[in-house]
Amino acid sequence: MTDTASAIVGENAVAAVRQPIEKAWGLPAAAYTSEEFFRLEQRKYLRKMWMAAAFEAEIPEPGDALPLIVAGLPIILVRNSNGEIKAFHNVCRHRGMMVLGEPCQGLKQFTCPYHAWGYGLDGELIRAPFFDGTPTGIEKGDLDTDAYGLVPVRCTVWHHWVFVDFGGDAPPIEEHLAPLLEFMNDADIGAMRYAGKVEWEFQANWKMVGDNWENYHHVYVHGGVFAKMSDDIDMETSELWSKPQHKGSVLTLRRRIEIAPSYTYKETGLPLIPFPEGKERVTAPNFIFPNVEIDLVRDNISSIIYEPVAPDRTTAKMGFFFLGGAATSQEHAEGRKTAMDRWLGPERSKDANDGVRNQDFRIWEAIQIAKGSPAADANIFSPLWEGNPHYFHNHILDYLEA
Ligand code: FES
Ligand SMILES: [Fe+2]
Repeated sequence: MTDTASAIVGENAVAAVRQPIEKAWGLPAAAYTSEEFFRLEQRKYLRKMWMAAAFEAEIPEPGDALPLIVAGLPIILVRNSNGEIKAFHNVCRHRGMMVLGEPCQGLKQFTCPYHAWGYGLDGELIRAPFFDGTPTGIEKGDLDTDAYGLVPVRCTVWHHWVFVDFGGDAPPIEEHLAPLLEFMNDADIGAMRYAGKVEWEFQANWKMVGDNWENYHHVYVHGGVFAKMSDDIDMETSELWSKPQHKGSVLTLRRRIEIAPSYTYKETGLPLIPFPEGKERVTAPNFIFPNVEIDLVRDNISSIIYEPVAPDRTTAKMGFFFLGGAATSQEHAEGRKTAMDRWLGPERSKDANDGVRNQDFRIWEAIQIAKGSPAADANIFSPLWEGNPHYFHNHILDYLEA
């Protein structure tokens, strides 16, 4: 088993990423195309971190359950009868069938489709019909039901997000997300309400997300959203309005409120996100390693949970959150649409080029094709704009080289 990044891409390629940004290269193309590198990332990185799995509101009621693939592993998320969210490996303890095949509501128990073993919402094995010839299969006591419950996965709910940690020893979630709260100036995330989600798949490596956490591309890629370079840089002093920053597991493009004029947003009529007394309003798009972005603007939070499916395939699930009743009220339907248009484009099509997300996906898919070229290895970063992707590459190597 190949156990380090340098065993796959070579020591020189790793050493080049480790250089100060002025001299560094980014991760080589094989880090985006090789199956072996992808497997290594799953094993040594994704399964050692807090992976975002779902929005809490996707399973609102007891008995609601969701089968998901996270870091390549099938899991079940379920809300038990006490209203707590639990995660289990979606693997039957009898012969290994996936127990839950599709999202369900109001379940009392899980029933495996293969031989009908039944598990409670806390994972306990309840029945194994006729395993020992008896109707429940457990009456003769031959089967140790305590030993054959669904295998739990460490799981936590943080505001609207459900995170899982396969390794079981990632640092506490509060520590993982502390820089996020700092970058968001303690905006009142808890006052926001879920308004729905959209899902896509794009044909590119998952690392394109972190690589994209710079504003150098804004004016070139996001025509109609970021209309002028002067939205991101003071043309006279060369100071960036949104200085790319990173701390711990978080990259941000937080607006520098102390110097920056604010972006021009289309008026939505939506209520503004509250901030604690004494804290200034900020806007801050954030990417939290390894797979979730949480973007704070004036009147909404949007969030994408990414699942790396293959070296060149990633799924994205984007949820929207608005203040209190504005998440669902008819009165604010038009405002929500305006806010969502900025991200999704008025056409609401992945193949259009009219919203921040489809604009980025087009670029990422084109980069992925170029990564197949022998000319794709020696990428460089602008020290002014691209400190975030350089930090991201080094962060991944910290895990893969350990
Ligand atoms: S594999 Fe699940 S009941 Fe047999
Ligand atoms: Fe972008």
